[in-house]
Amino acid sequence: MSDLQTATSSGSAAPGREQWTSRFGFLMAAVGSAVGLGNMWRFAYIASEHGGAAAVLLYVLLVFAVGVPVMIAELALGRSSGLSPIGAMRQQLGRAWAPFGVLFILAGALILSYYAVIAGWVLRYAIVGLTSSFPADAGTYFGSIAAGGPAIVFQIVIMAVTTLVVARGIGSGIERLSSFMMPALFLILVGLAIWAMTLPGGGEGYAYYLIPRFEELFSLETLAASTSQAFFSLSLGMGAMLTFASYLPRTANLPKDSTTIALADFSVAFIAGLVVFPVIYALGLQGAVGESTLGALFISLPGGFAEMGSVGRVVGLFFFTALLFGALTSTVSLLEVVVASMVDETKMQRPLAALVAGGLITLVGLWSALDTNALGFLDAVANNVMLPLGGLVIAMGVAWKMPDARAQVSEGTSPRVARLLGGWLWTLRIVVPPLLIIVLYETIPAAIEAARVLFSGN
Ligand code: PHE
Repeated sequence: MSDLQTATSSGSAAPGREQWTSRFGFLMAAVGSAVGLGNMWRFAYIASEHGGAAAVLLYVLLVFAVGVPVMIAELALGRSSGLSPIGAMRQQLGRAWAPFGVLFILAGALILSYYAVIAGWVLRYAIVGLTSSFPADAGTYFGSIAAGGPAIVFQIVIMAVTTLVVARGIGSGIERLSSFMMPALFLILVGLAIWAMTLPGGGEGYAYYLIPRFEELFSLETLAASTSQAFFSLSLGMGAMLTFASYLPRTANLPKDSTTIALADFSVAFIAGLVVFPVIYALGLQGAVGESTLGALFISLPGGFAEMGSVGRVVGLFFFTALLFGALTSTVSLLEVVVASMVDETKMQRPLAALVAGGLITLVGLWSALDTNALGFLDAVANNVMLPLGGLVIAMGVAWKMPDARAQVSEGTSPRVARLLGGWLWTLRIVVPPLLIIVLYETIPAAIEAARVLFSGN
């Protein structure tokens, strides 16, 4: 892209820092970070538990009214500093804010530790689809591979690939991976959604998904679940978007890119629902969905694919391959936050930093690979508490502390959009913080309860 090339010569935020080779490459990497297990693993679950299309509508509202403003704030911090979270906060918000950068890195490391275990299950199912057929007794099968040795082997493979990609850097590592995997994922999903329309008995699934049940919507729990899902799905609140933006040129249009990323992320989640719901209803598996998010993905669906014979095998292979692409482009973004911080703060060489961080996070991940309750606990802490907390820090920091936040964002935007940025700042000041405080009021006790269950064993 020519506008990016001129930008590189006319002054990036940080001279000497690597840059995305094109706007498309940046967008694919950011969409790759956003699109992942969250889109297929949790979105459908939240929709089915909290009122079908009513929950989807609430979710869209949250994505655009809260998610996009916070994403613009993250991108602004990253681009204006040209640094990873700790340095960005120190430089743009002041010394006192630097420790929050540490919190971000911790959140990223914790999420990656268990996310890689789930991605390992996905890899295993993709290989199963490729080499044999899906197990008819998927419940027993999943029970035998979810924890312990079999889980660890695949977790290690995922972490090794992730480490390798991050070690290669931005342009030839993350950008190249995402520029291939994201378009492929999108094509596969659209193909699967079209196939799903041909399923007899799928109509009820569409109805369950697409007819709003507003009476199920109005609870604090729904609001909290949808908000933390929005943060998780958009990769917000732990500096992933911030770090990616540190490789952006001044000409990048942050509001426009944020909107594009959010739209793409939502579209993938929505289309995944158009695959999952008709399949589940066509096979009469609806009872299983409410039981657990992971159950639907790793037991009901593969069991269903097994029932469908050879068609099921092909469909299942495509489905888990798409999921794997989504997962890998997310794991690299999680590791990138940690690695970029080590490189920026200690001047360490990138490959060494990737090896050290990847190795340590693999070790932490063993806990989740050995005990799925640990995985649930870490998810309750990192996803439900740390991300909203991080979002709160970013919103308040950028809105109240960042010098010339508005001017920073308006660089690269059209004058018309620049005029709207006052509204953006006020959204960060008065809409985002109260909402996130309500969310934390719901999720902190839940995380404490998860800890109690985990450590007392009942
Ligand atoms: N957004 C990813 C998903 O939906 C998960 C993720 C969270 C990735 C935070 C990076 C940072 O699967």
